[in-house]
Amino acid sequence: MPVRTIREADLTNKRVLVRVDFNVPLKEGTVTDDTRIRAALPTLRHILDQEGASLILMSHLGRPKEGPEPEFSLKPVAERLSELIGKPVKTADDCIGSVAEDAVAKLSAGEILLLENVRFHKAETKNDPDFAAKLAKLGDVYVNDAFGSAHRAHASTEGLAHLLPSFAGFLLEKEVAFFEPVLKSPAKPFVAIVGGAKVSSKIAVLESLLPNCSTLVIGGGMSYTFLKAQGHAIGNSLVEDDFIDTAKSLLAKANEGGVSVVLPIDHTVASEFSETATPESVDSVDIPAGKIGLDIGPKSIDALRPIIAGAKTVLWNGPMGVFEFDNFAKGTLEVARMVAECSGTTIVGGGDSVAAANKFGVADRIDHVSTGGGASLEFLEGKVLPGIKALEA
Ligand code: 3PG
Repeated sequence: MPVRTIREADLTNKRVLVRVDFNVPLKEGTVTDDTRIRAALPTLRHILDQEGASLILMSHLGRPKEGPEPEFSLKPVAERLSELIGKPVKTADDCIGSVAEDAVAKLSAGEILLLENVRFHKAETKNDPDFAAKLAKLGDVYVNDAFGSAHRAHASTEGLAHLLPSFAGFLLEKEVAFFEPVLKSPAKPFVAIVGGAKVSSKIAVLESLLPNCSTLVIGGGMSYTFLKAQGHAIGNSLVEDDFIDTAKSLLAKANEGGVSVVLPIDHTVASEFSETATPESVDSVDIPAGKIGLDIGPKSIDALRPIIAGAKTVLWNGPMGVFEFDNFAKGTLEVARMVAECSGTTIVGGGDSVAAANKFGVADRIDHVSTGGGASLEFLEGKVLPGIKALEA
């Protein structure tokens, strides 16, 4: 993906319009996870270091439906950004029109302005050309650093790139630099660990990763559909019966391609899906009637140790069990530790496994923790992301 990056851009004396993904969680008006804001800092600092450059930031926050809604205001994000970057961050009550234009006109070199949520206008998600043109009026150069939104063909992520000289920021460049080799030519052994609740939401990723995998580890809720496809008993565990044939065909493809597929060989189960449910060990692949598989068991964990330790590339997408419940978190915790300890290139992508890596305190020992949830999934499915395509040189 040869995109133009800000390294190539002459930003001297320019008003630089940057699309960031500051879609961060808030609680009572305070940012509770600032990972995405921190991840954008290298790009923002680089721009501010250019003589005479000023910084105009655009983002969405949440999915407001009816125009401006106070709970989706980016104002709390401006406060957190200001603390992180050590400079004041001005705000505007709108992202287009006279309000935004006046705020930009008052902006001096070296200053930062965060425009209000672009999704306060329905035209944003429709990729409306007039709306994109109104955004374009606010800057001389466009930089897209919003990897987390690159799968959206919206005005601020796609349309705008065609209206101004446009470049990728460092975060977007880094995300692609880690994910692209996984799809094309990962250093081998390449171990893909795919978990999460549903086969249906991960099947495209499994299909896309399979040709390059050395070992495919399947865990989490989706593993029970695979176990059922192999003829095992799964009790009352989560299953997508419509995907049994899909699971069978994926297992057959893996077999033909010489990819070893690792499924759970034992389980931690309970009689009900609940945080307070009593965990029980099942020392076999088969799960007794009435029981629900909620985590991989100790033998399954031990079987993964040499596989992950010996990998030259590890991609982890999706938890091994219901890690949000302490009694069923062990499989995901141990996998998080194994990935962190692996000396190969390690990548974690997808909202839940990123949340797990953060929860278990291993994120800083992983080579790349993606800021993209849906975007990283679609990238790994081999889809062309419109926000990236629009920047291609
Ligand atoms: C995300 O959090 O995955 C991105 O910010 C995209 O948000 P969206 O799914 O509302 O487009």
